[in-house]
Amino acid sequence: MNKRLKPLFWGGRYYHLIKLRQCNEYVIDKYMKGNNFLLLDFGCGECPYKPIIVPHVKEYIGADITLNEHAQLLINPETGHIDVGDNHFDTLLSTQVLEHVISPTNYLREAHRVLKKDGLLVLSTHGYWMYHPDPTDFWRWTRDGLEKIIRDEGFEIVETLGIFNRFTSGLQLMQDALIHKLPNGPKQVWNSIFAVLQLIFDNGRLNNRDASVYMVVAKKK
Ligand SMILES: C[S@@+](CC[C@H](N)C(=O)[O-])C[C@H]1O[C@@H](n2cnc3c(N)ncnc32)[C@H](O)[C@@H]1O
Repeated sequence: MNKRLKPLFWGGRYYHLIKLRQCNEYVIDKYMKGNNFLLLDFGCGECPYKPIIVPHVKEYIGADITLNEHAQLLINPETGHIDVGDNHFDTLLSTQVLEHVISPTNYLREAHRVLKKDGLLVLSTHGYWMYHPDPTDFWRWTRDGLEKIIRDEGFEIVETLGIFNRFTSGLQLMQDALIHKLPNGPKQVWNSIFAVLQLIFDNGRLNNRDASVYMVVAKKK
């Protein structure tokens, strides 16, 4: 089952993943629908958002540092390069990858190279979040810092979304701080309590300034 698209209520990431899905749906609706574009999922993992994106693109290509059933293209783990010419893709999707790469600058530079002019970068990464290596975990961002490094690599920011306000982000960190000390049964109860608290205290917005996850839509200049 695709746990990112359909998270379990007691799974520990329920409300966060629901909001991340909403963000993806908002971006698909606003920027991808009807465009019939060639899309690269750059650091695709298991391509969790592919089922909701595929109806709107001509072709969906996954790339990762190890080839798996979802990745057709290999990212060279040393250089970060993929074997594709310049100006190739219309859209580049990057969900929860940037915090894991050694050099965000190199990663964004390669994203810029393979995108066509005016091509769209749709990138999400973490603000306030616990350490979670995959296989490494290097970076966290503020909204301003994230927009700056993306702009510095030749993109124009179109829109930035922010999931979870400061309060809901704090609840997520508090939940994660204790969860590893609990056995399974109480763990699910604890997660469910925090999911309810997040539902109550989240302000429902998708554009918070202090956020757990930022999603930036940017255009290659
Ligand atoms: C948390 S997973 C996210 C996967 C997927 N995008 C998602 O939303 O579920 C992080 C991904 O980044 C990939 N990754 C790690 N280092 C990378 C690098 N230098 N360049 C590209 N992808 C990288 C990992 O292999 C992994 O698939």
